[in-house]
This record gives sequence, C-alpha cells and structure tokens, in this order.
Amino acid sequence: MASEPGPGGPAPEGAATRAPGLDLVSLGAAERFGTVLADPPWRFANRTGKVAPEHRRLSRYDTMASEEIAALPVGELMAARSHCYLWVPNALLADGLMVLEGWGFEYKANLVWHKVRKDGGSDGRGVGFYFRNVTELVLFGARGRLRTLAPGRSQVNLLASRKREHSRKPDELYGIVEACSPGPRLELFARYPRDGWAVWGHESSPGVVPRGKAHRGYRGGPPVG
Ligand SMILES: C[S@@+](CC[C@H](N)C(=O)[O-])C[C@H]1O[C@@H](n2cnc3c(N)ncnc32)[C@H](O)[C@@H]1O
Repeated sequence: MASEPGPGGPAPEGAATRAPGLDLVSLGAAERFGTVLADPPWRFANRTGKVAPEHRRLSRYDTMASEEIAALPVGELMAARSHCYLWVPNALLADGLMVLEGWGFEYKANLVWHKVRKDGGSDGRGVGFYFRNVTELVLFGARGRLRTLAPGRSQVNLLASRKREHSRKPDELYGIVEACSPGPRLELFARYPRDGWAVWGHESSPGVVPRGKAHRGYRGGPPVG
C-alpha cells in the first residue's frame, strides 16, 4: 500500500482538532485496515512544564484532548476483525482505554517499553510526578474475534531499547506489529513514512522535518530497516 502523506506539514497553532485526510480514499487504501498503530499527541493537565509537548519555547507539536482523539473516525477505517496498538502515557491510562473503546476496540493486552541506558540499566532521566518513569505502555485491542498471528504467541510483551528524541518511540515495535497482526496497516500521528504502511499525521509527509530537538547522544532521522 502506498504511504500517502496525510494532512501535510505542521498545523498552525491552535488548529489541533481537525482531521483532514483521515478517510480511506485520502489514505490511498483499497480496503479497510487490519491493524492500526497510533501515538497520539495527548494533552496533559500541565501544559507549561518543559516536558509538555506544547511548551512554547521548545514548540514540539500541537496536542489534542483525549475526547478529541477518541472521536476520530478510526473505527470507519478498520476491518470488522482488526487490531489496534495505542501508545498511552502512564498518567493517562484511563484515557487510553477510553480512546481504544471509542475507536471500536476491546482492550486485550499491553506491551511495555523499558527505556534502557547503553549498559542495559534503566534510563532514569524520564519524568514522573509520583515515580520516575522508565517505561511506556502500548495498549493492545482487538475488534471482532482476532488472535495475534502465530509469532505473537511467542512474542514477549517487553521491549527494551534506548530513548531518542522527545516522544520518539522505538522502531522495534514496527517489526512486532508486522509479525503479529494482519495488514493492511495504518500508523496514525506518524512522524515518518514507512514502507508497507499508510501513514497519517501532521509530520508524516516525506518533506516534513519533525519539530522538537533531538536528545543529545541519540540518533535522529527516519526509521531504519
Ligand atoms: C507523540 S507524536 C508521534 C511520535 C511518533 N510516534 C514517533 O515515534 O516519532 C504525535 C504527532 O502527532 C502530530 N499531531 C498533533 N496534532 C495533530 C492533529 N490534529 N492531526 C494530525 N497529527 C497531529 C504531531 O505533530 C506529532 O508528530
């Protein structure tokens, strides 16, 4: 499936709620998707702190209220039997479950990303109000009765890899999704085009350089492999 650009470049400030191009025709899809992976621009209560995506000076990306994310017409894009992988911040777990349901999926399981240092220990440079977060969660949901493909039965639900740019997720997840869940595949809120996937998001077009600064010491740029 062609990786058609979604809404194009970064939206102007305050234009976070529209969802242009989130339909099968604009996505270049000949049929409904078997799997969706999404990493939404969750809005936190504290929008001024340095870790907030919309911190004015760091200007990383616009955010959306959880209700806006849940209201996106994702269900209309998905096959009657399909899978959803949804990144959700630890503090917004309940919102993640609400979004999963809004998109027509039933929560089934989760995958945990453990952020590690070069020596394999926990990378404690993260944030957290109650605990220092060194993990992030991917909620896994199914629509209709659909188990994971055969490799899923031996796939452990833990990924351990190093952090990169702000909010950048590990590329290892793509391999897991491709092995465990059926196509065609769609990534929502994507930052880079990816072969074999339809992508949608403000920063998903090939010519768009994602906003935000790279972490010192981590490799940036489009996914490899
Ligand atoms: C959490 S980031 C995704 C990070 C990505 N998964 C990665 O690993 O690099 C959320 C993305 O959603 C985009 N975005 C924000 N508001 C949007 C909207 N209303 N419609 C489409 N994309 C939006 C942001 O520009 C940002 O690229």
